[in-house]
Amino acid sequence: MPLQPIEFTRFAPTVFHLFDRQWLLLTGGDFARGVFNTMTISWGSLGVVWGRPFVQVFVRPTRHTFEFMEHHGSFTVTAFPEQYRAALNLLGVRSGREGNKIAEAGLTPVAAAEVAAPAFAEAELVIECRKLYRATLEPAGFLDPQVEVNYPNKDYHAIYYGEVVAIRGDAKYRMD
Ligand SMILES: Cc1cc2nc3c(=O)[nH]c(=O)nc-3n(C[C@H](O)[C@H](O)[C@H](O)COP(=O)(O)O)c2cc1C
Repeated sequence: MPLQPIEFTRFAPTVFHLFDRQWLLLTGGDFARGVFNTMTISWGSLGVVWGRPFVQVFVRPTRHTFEFMEHHGSFTVTAFPEQYRAALNLLGVRSGREGNKIAEAGLTPVAAAEVAAPAFAEAELVIECRKLYRATLEPAGFLDPQVEVNYPNKDYHAIYYGEVVAIRGDAKYRMD
């Protein structure tokens, strides 16, 4: 069943489950030019700012995906049925620097509808984003000292806000 477009005001994800349990792929780059990379993410948010719907993602500068997030104007966030858990595991432990981990995971990159960054044929949810804002986490802002424990190597995440320009998903992601 092909994915249906979902207007953002009708988008009904279970956000905490989606990030923390289901996990997502974050993909940056340019499908038409054949330059892109993907990695598993479980940190991020969805919301509205400046009157626009956004996805916010956290990317350590050590990730290969970071280079694509920095140098390209769009990204996609995609979710998958449970049968792809092993693929998400692999894409979250192996780096795209080491070879074609996407092929190894058995996923098929495809063109997105509105942005240069690719989606995946196997996804059950595709959120297409245009980069709107980026910043690097500033440790002086950690109000709970325990947050710093996440950064023994001082590799503070870059955060990116992407304006949501298209959402496609299966019926469970859409309000009736
Ligand atoms: C469940 C899970 C969630 C992850 N979430 C994030 C995340 O939100 N941000 C991040 O920078 N890395 C995260 N990672 C780690 C990257 O996915 C991992 O380092 C990956 O191999 C990077 O691939 P790359 O070097 O090809 O970009 C996560 C890994 C897993 C398994």
